[in-house]
Amino acid sequence: MIALLDDIELAYEETGSGEPVLFVHGFPHDRSLWDTQLAALSGRARCISVDLRGFGESSVQPPYSMDQWADDLAGLLDRLRIEQVVFCGLSMGGYIAFSFWRRHRHRVRALILMDTRADADAPESAQRRKDLIAQVEERGSAAAADALITGMLGKSTREKCPEIVDATHGMLEAAPAAGVIGALRAMMARQDSVPTLGTIDVPTLVLVGDEDVLTPPAVARSMAAGIKGSVLHVIARSGHLSNVERPATVNHLVSEFLASLSLT
Ligand code: MLT
Repeated sequence: MIALLDDIELAYEETGSGEPVLFVHGFPHDRSLWDTQLAALSGRARCISVDLRGFGESSVQPPYSMDQWADDLAGLLDRLRIEQVVFCGLSMGGYIAFSFWRRHRHRVRALILMDTRADADAPESAQRRKDLIAQVEERGSAAAADALITGMLGKSTREKCPEIVDATHGMLEAAPAAGVIGALRAMMARQDSVPTLGTIDVPTLVLVGDEDVLTPPAVARSMAAGIKGSVLHVIARSGHLSNVERPATVNHLVSEFLASLSLT
């Protein structure tokens, strides 16, 4: 489906009924990242996955920033007449979750932060992004797919599930180059969300793969420690894309978390 916002079109999927859950992909993904969650959770929630501006079938149109993406998502919720959501963001989707919290916190029923971090880019990460921009300018998104695929997936998945490796590489490679470059610049410019952690006062679930090398368990632990009352689960034999690599475990944990919300 397509939602028409003021300046762009946003492509999204919607299925199920109940508590609205907004699934926000990372970099450089698209909404298909969440297909397994939508299939598994539609029996208990109103599940919405969306292509961020610059990705999937949404408009490839600047500006790109965490705040812009957060505002785009608030615009989507307006179109869908949804007041509050459980905001589930993976990696860059988590960076956007922090921005969404700062700008639209009354719309957040609860947070699911998956394989993400609160701190801003360290100088060496920013340099890696600059180098990647140069490669994508030269070779297109295939350069990003080749550079990122190893870090995206855990060792277990890379060794045992070639079909997940191929499908993930295909998703990264399909991302529009302008969106990839825009997102790299946006992530370099993003603000430090560590001070935001102490302001979060909604139920929060933190998930991380034990083989995630991009946002490792130690990073997730310190992020969770900053969010009062949050619950952390480390997912065995999973890398950075926990929901793709260990869908049954993630779906179970998300489902339990959603059930717990009806008690609060
Ligand atoms: C992601 O999966 O969104 C990326 O790993 C985020 C990043 O590059 O910081």
